[in-house]
Amino acid sequence: MDSPVVVSHPLAQIHLTEIRRVNTTCGQFRWHLQRLAEILFIEATRHLKTSAIRVQTPLAETEGAAFARPIVLVPILRAGLGLQEAILPLVPDAIVAHVGIARDEATAQPMPYYSKLPSVLAQADVFLLDPMLATGGSACSAVNQLKEAGATSITFICVVSCPHGLQAFAAQHPDVPVITAAVDDGLNDRCYIVPGLGDAGDRCFGT
Ligand code: PRP
Ligand code: URA
Repeated sequence: MDSPVVVSHPLAQIHLTEIRRVNTTCGQFRWHLQRLAEILFIEATRHLKTSAIRVQTPLAETEGAAFARPIVLVPILRAGLGLQEAILPLVPDAIVAHVGIARDEATAQPMPYYSKLPSVLAQADVFLLDPMLATGGSACSAVNQLKEAGATSITFICVVSCPHGLQAFAAQHPDVPVITAAVDDGLNDRCYIVPGLGDAGDRCFGT
């Protein structure tokens, strides 16, 4: 299995603990998920390419940095929206693409139902967002769509992963780094991550 980057920063782990907690309210869940998303995105962009630019301060001209390439955020609908909401203020000029994928509840197979991708994917640094990497089916399907549309630089940000999903993902997409806050024990008989946090979309949107 290719190693994911597991973000062990104490703040990440404290926010993760609150979103795992069964009696965390919907509002608290969203708030902690958003704070955790900010931390994960900062880690995911640690090696982002920048261009050197000159900047004039009130006192002198000095060297500064600008994004070298467009940034594209791709939340997997629905639960990925909970991450995107927090990350967009950090990169306000980012393009937001959407990929809709729902797991079939009986088979856990990914069922793509929507896609709106920009034409700049081939030139962009693309960040795929989904809180959960369980079987890996949804993330693999989303990356397939992004690569078919031309993306070459993709990073996957997820909150909770597990060995099964990480192996399946790395087998299909070894070139896509995974940034996560946790690698949990495994999957239950309904393909939910254990201990996990339950259904991320339902907890984020109160359904
Ligand atoms: C959840 C989650 C991932 C997927 C992970 O979404 O947000 O997209 O399941 O499972 P996998 O790794 O086995 O594919 P779900 O399909 O429940 O849709 P939702 O976001 O609308 O709740
Ligand atoms: N989707 C979720 O929301 N949670 C899981 O544990 C697995 C898939």
